[in-house]
Amino acid sequence: MSATPGHPHGPIGLFDSGVGGGTVLRHLRRLLPAEDVLYVADQAHCPYGNRPAHEVRRLATANVQWLLDQGAKLIVVACNTASAVALRALRAQFPHVPFVGMVPPVKPAALSTRTGVVGVLATPTTLNGELLQDVIQQWAEGVTVVSREGHGLVELIEAGHIEGPELEARLAAFLHPMLAAGADTIVLGCTHYPYLRPTIQRLVGPEVTVLDAGEAVARQVRRVLRARNMAHPRGSQQGRVLYATTGDPGHLAHQIARLGLPAGRVITAELP
Ligand code: DGL
Repeated sequence: MSATPGHPHGPIGLFDSGVGGGTVLRHLRRLLPAEDVLYVADQAHCPYGNRPAHEVRRLATANVQWLLDQGAKLIVVACNTASAVALRALRAQFPHVPFVGMVPPVKPAALSTRTGVVGVLATPTTLNGELLQDVIQQWAEGVTVVSREGHGLVELIEAGHIEGPELEARLAAFLHPMLAAGADTIVLGCTHYPYLRPTIQRLVGPEVTVLDAGEAVARQVRRVLRARNMAHPRGSQQGRVLYATTGDPGHLAHQIARLGLPAGRVITAELP
């Protein structure tokens, strides 16, 4: 899969602390089927959400360097936590590399809420990061934002629990204050959480809108590739997905099947 960095034949590089990036990958496959995707899951260091910012920045740099060494032409930071604290630094460190990052979709939520109350569920690092605070300041003036840290959710999802009583009890405790405050829109600010969407939707009821940024990010990747003439020229042929993990490849292969993610070979990544 390797090619010169920035070359249209190179893969789209994508990273997350674990399987969360899969909720972005699904949209990428649908919108850009001809592209190869190289997805690194930094499962040896998962979760990122409770780590200090400088540590997440160091891990993010290592992921990006590894992806570039394999010839990635564009990097998707498919992790809200890494985007919150590292995206600016990554752009400065790798000025010639196009990056697409995640931000919890507070803007569409603020534009569409009828009650004027929006709930945001994310990791502590994302909630405290300036990226989210900037978006709230810029787009959510006059809207009440009720945020909660999704303590323990990433660990449960990584262990394969995307439903069940323990998960539901945790979710209910996080969602209750949002609903009690009148939220009619819930923003999922962590790429792991869309796996929980059916449970979340059931808990909040059909009248409440649940939003995540996966599709918007995939559309942005498509825009950037087109604008830079970097789309893969293979036409209607399907591209391949290659997964790499810093953890156990057997475990990741099992998770890919269980979560219904696009099929692909799984290798070990040794980060620099
Ligand atoms: N999927 C991640 C995010 O979007 C990472 C969460 C974590 O590792 O704590 O924030």
